[in-house]
Amino acid sequence: MKNALITGITGQDGAYLAQLLLQKDYKVYGTYRRLSTPNFWRLQSLGIFDKVALIPADLVDSSSIMTAINISQPHEVYHLAAQSFVGASFDQPVGAGEITALGVTRVLESIKEINQDIRFYQASTSELYGNGNRAPQNERTPFRPSSPYAAAKLYGYWLTTIYREAYGIFACNGILFNHESPLRGIEFVTRKISNAAAKISLGLKERLPLGNLEALRDWGYAPEYVESMWLMLQQDKPDDYVIGTGETHSVKEFAQKAFEAVGLDWQKYVEVDQRFFRPVDVDRLQADCSKAKQSLGWQPRVKFDKLVEIMVQEDLNRWRRCQKGEAFPWDAPNYPSEASMLTRSLRPRREAPLVQPCPQGS
Ligand code: NAP
Ligand code: GDD
Repeated sequence: MKNALITGITGQDGAYLAQLLLQKDYKVYGTYRRLSTPNFWRLQSLGIFDKVALIPADLVDSSSIMTAINISQPHEVYHLAAQSFVGASFDQPVGAGEITALGVTRVLESIKEINQDIRFYQASTSELYGNGNRAPQNERTPFRPSSPYAAAKLYGYWLTTIYREAYGIFACNGILFNHESPLRGIEFVTRKISNAAAKISLGLKERLPLGNLEALRDWGYAPEYVESMWLMLQQDKPDDYVIGTGETHSVKEFAQKAFEAVGLDWQKYVEVDQRFFRPVDVDRLQADCSKAKQSLGWQPRVKFDKLVEIMVQEDLNRWRRCQKGEAFPWDAPNYPSEASMLTRSLRPRREAPLVQPCPQGS
C-alpha cells in the first residue's frame, strides 16, 4: 500500500484526488488549516471524510509541514494548498507570496530534508501564461504572469524544476487550465453562476452581478483533472504537462448556458458590476494538451455543455433539498450576499503615478 499526502485536502481538487487515491488503495493523509468553523463539507459530500487521515498544517508554518510529512511518511506528495483565488491576490499580494509561493519552498525543503525519494506534484496553472501569448498554450509557451497569484505560482513552478535538477527529486508541474465541478468554491465564476441560476429559478434570488463577461477560459471537469496529477507521478521520469480541454468559452456563454438549463434568459438577470472586475484580467486561455495525451494517455471527456449542466443540476438539487427543510451542508448558504461585498474595485484607483520622474538634466 502506498501513502499519499495531499496539502489542501479540503479544497475542490484535494477532495476529488483523495477519492481517486482511496479507490486506488492508497492510505490518504491530508492537511487542513485550523479555522474557527470546520470546513470539511467536500469530503463529507463525497462520503470519504472518515476514510482519510487529517493532519493540521499551515503553509506559513514550516514546522507543521515537516510534521505532516513525518507523520504520513508519504511515497507521493500532492501540493494543492494555495490561496487560489486570483481576484483576492490583488487584495492580499503579500499573502499570495507567503502562502502560494513560499509555501512550495517549505514543502520541497521538508521533502529534501526528510526523504528525497518522495515524489512531488506542484499545482501549477494556466494563469502563468497571462496576456500577450498566442492561443492555444502548451509547455513551450512563454510565461507572462498578470496577477500576484500568477507571479507566486511562477515562483512555485521554478522551485519545482530547480529541486528536480538540483537534488534529483521526482518533482512535476501540472499546468492545469480551469477545472470546475459542483465542489468548486462559490466565489469562482462558474459556481457563482450555477448557484445563482439555480436560486433565481427557485425564486430565492433576483439578480446576478458579474464582472468581465468577455474573458475566455478553457473549462474542464475537475474529477478528470486529478487523474492527470496521479498519472504524472507514475511515469518513469519527472516532467511538466499542460492539462485542458482545448476549447475556450466566454463567461457570457457560461451564463447563457446555465440560465438555459433552468429555462431562463440570462440577459434578464445578469448585470455588469464594476466591483467584480480585476485591475488586470487574463483575456484568453486555451490549452494544447497534446503532450499529456501522448505521454500520459490522458484525455478530457466532459466538455463545456455537459459541465454547465452538471453544475447547475447539482446546485438545483441542493437548494431543493434545503427548501424541503433538510439540513444540507455546503458552502452557498454561508456566503455573504453581493450587496454586502466590499471589494478593492470600490476604492478609487490612481490613474497615474503620484511621483513624476525628474526632468532630464535637472
Ligand atoms: P481550492 O478549492 O481553493 O483549495 C485550496 C486549498 O488550499 C484548500 O484546502 C485551502 O484550505 C488550502 N489552503 C489555503 N491557504 C492555506 C494555507 N495557508 N495553509 C494550508 N492550506 C491552505 O483550490 P482548488 O481549485 O482545489 O485548486 C487546487 C490547487 O490547484 C491550488 O493550488 C490552485 O491554485 C491550483 N489550480 C487550480 C485550478 C482550478 O481551475 N481549480 C487550475 C490550476 C491550478 P481551506 O479549505 O482551509 O481554505
Ligand atoms: N470570480 C469571478 N467573479 N470571476 C468573474 C466574475 C465574477 O463575478 N465576472 C467575470 N469574471 C471573470 C474573471 O475576471 C476571469 O476572467 C474569469 O471570469 C474566471 O474567473 P475565476 O472563476 O475567478 O477563475 P480564474 O480563471 O481567475 O482562476 C482559476 O483558474 C486558474 C487556472 O487558469 C482559479 O482556479 C485559479 O486558482 C487557477 O490557477
